[in-house]
Amino acid sequence: MTDSSPMQRELDELSTQIKHYEALYRAGNPEISDGAFDELTDRYAELADALGITTTERVDAKPGADHTDGFVQVVHAVPMLSLEKLTPNRKDAQGAAMPLAEQLAQWVERRREDLELSASVELPLVVEPKIDGIGVSLHYEGGKLLRAVTRGDGKKGDDITKQVLRAKAAPAALKGVSGKLEIRGELYWPRPAFDRYNATLDEDDQIANPRNGCAGMMKRKDPAGLEDVGITSFLYTIAGSEGVSLPDRQSDLLGFLSEAGAHVYLGEITVVSDATGALTYCESYGERRAELEFDIDGMVIKIDELKYYTQLGSTGHHPHWGIAFKFPPERKITKILEIVPSVGKSGLLTPLAWVEPVQLAGTTVVKASLHNYVEVARKDLRVGDDVEIEKAGDIIPQVIKSVRHAENSVKVEPPTHCPACESKVIVEEIFVRCPNPSCPAQRLGRLTHFAARHAMEIEGLGESLVLQLVEKRGVRAPHELFSLTKESLASLDRMGDKSAANVVRALEKAKGRGLARVLFGLSIPLLGEGTSEDLARYFGSADALLDFARRYAAGDETAILVVAPEKGSGAIEGLARKSADVIFGALATDALGVIFEGLAKAGVSLEAASAKMSLVDGVAGKSFVLTGTLPTLKRDAAGDMIKAAGGKVSGSVSKKTDYVVAGDDAGSKLEKAKELGVAVIDEATLLAMLGGS
Ligand code: IVH
Repeated sequence: MTDSSPMQRELDELSTQIKHYEALYRAGNPEISDGAFDELTDRYAELADALGITTTERVDAKPGADHTDGFVQVVHAVPMLSLEKLTPNRKDAQGAAMPLAEQLAQWVERRREDLELSASVELPLVVEPKIDGIGVSLHYEGGKLLRAVTRGDGKKGDDITKQVLRAKAAPAALKGVSGKLEIRGELYWPRPAFDRYNATLDEDDQIANPRNGCAGMMKRKDPAGLEDVGITSFLYTIAGSEGVSLPDRQSDLLGFLSEAGAHVYLGEITVVSDATGALTYCESYGERRAELEFDIDGMVIKIDELKYYTQLGSTGHHPHWGIAFKFPPERKITKILEIVPSVGKSGLLTPLAWVEPVQLAGTTVVKASLHNYVEVARKDLRVGDDVEIEKAGDIIPQVIKSVRHAENSVKVEPPTHCPACESKVIVEEIFVRCPNPSCPAQRLGRLTHFAARHAMEIEGLGESLVLQLVEKRGVRAPHELFSLTKESLASLDRMGDKSAANVVRALEKAKGRGLARVLFGLSIPLLGEGTSEDLARYFGSADALLDFARRYAAGDETAILVVAPEKGSGAIEGLARKSADVIFGALATDALGVIFEGLAKAGVSLEAASAKMSLVDGVAGKSFVLTGTLPTLKRDAAGDMIKAAGGKVSGSVSKKTDYVVAGDDAGSKLEKAKELGVAVIDEATLLAMLGGS
């Protein structure tokens, strides 16, 4: 195979794309869906396998592990690994595709050799559905669920005990088990319950699929309401035990777990004697996929006898006692009606194909992603073509290939100008970008991101409302959102008094989210969630941060040394000089200065929130002044409680003050409050507002 082979070229191109999307993902600005990203990495893995590229030479195709800030991390005593996969693209030594049956037969044979089994010894296999949910480790002691932890990066995960218990996703107590047990399995959201929940959400807020939904629900800091959503689990293994006698076979272990009250799909598993039997079950199970109430992305084939597991061992990536069978994603043929560039919030122009509506994996597909223009040219996709599309678990499917050019098919050229603002585009490697930061499409993307979940979390402010605000209310920058009134919102399409009031309330609440969320919300290139938090923590306030950024951008040596000292790592862990140049460069611009000023004027908190902040309605975003001697609390302690609930504490009373908390001997501040008509409350009222704590 020479370097210029089409496969090698595709691989090189994919590796550029993967690195690009991964950097965006890590920066918290994903530009394509997880599914689309998986597609790229899967195709990359296929080609890399076919070209015999070793693991160490491959791009690191694993986007960030799932740690969420604010969750306690727990180390897994036994790492949570992945599974090896049977792949339809494996080639034999002669380069011919290797049927799955042969691959599985070889896999089983290899186990028999490793275990040194003679031909007469049977090696039964158990086949289980591979539920598409989120991996979880459950620690039980004396039968009680003490801790639930996500898979995380496999070595450590996030503590989601409160969430699992509240959702009743796994039994809080096991029946008849008294020792210590670490049970592992998959948390998932059954389709019917997921669909019911999604039906209550606005179009903009629809959750892509049950897996993402389940992950999102389990990462809700406040578990209230989780009891009603219907998330459950499929528990399939025991990673550790003390004082519990366990069965000898995986198939019996599932029975044991079921008797203890765990959710186990006993009826869905089977025990077979060889690879052929296993594959037959996998394929026939696949036919039932559409009727199942849970999403599966494949089957897992495991050695049934548990005594062999230790002997078989594992690599750092997967155990040798099991292998996954993946179902091929469903494909359909449809016609490309149009190919249009869509503009992302950082100005990336991605070709999007509008297709003739077609039913695929449970939804009607009307558009499909084409990733980039180089790919459109390589696949020679033209408007009017019949194309094959495929969906791998996400909303936007992919165009796989053209199956027929129409007689009058039209080739698509990469745009030379941005479709939204007509600026001349710039081309960087395979990417086409609109360089105009005031581009209305970029604005729309940035405003939507500002309001989104991990940023300012302004409930009810999704893309379609933002679009109306941009077009009909002239909103151009984030701070302008805060001057919206109930009246100006209520008269927009699909709004009314109630929704308008909700949005105004949500904006009020968002004011107290603190500097880190503001920073992340501003779509600053390379500034993801984690770095936003680090910057907020280090600088403490927007004033200090902006002052630093201006000095840094002006080339002030002392400022630069803070980030890039001559020895050791800088003040902001993991912030490389190159990214710092981009981030502080952006923060030092007048445009961002204006936004920060506007946010401050609107009363948005630009201080670092305390680490344990948990917003309390009625307090978040409000400004308090404390005066006099409070009956039980020291003033500082009361101030900390207000800040932890998302409120602000200031030293002097003004028209902007929402509440003056007055104790004994309150003097001039109380007078001023009365003069200005500011509400005066006592400690008991404050405590009640904080939720009685
Ligand atoms: S056994 C070493 N059995 O699939 C991991 N995994 O791709 C052992 N999964 O991390 C896994 N259903 O989260 C196993 N019946 C099943 C499964 C299952 C879903 C997930 C699990 C694992 C991932 C591996």
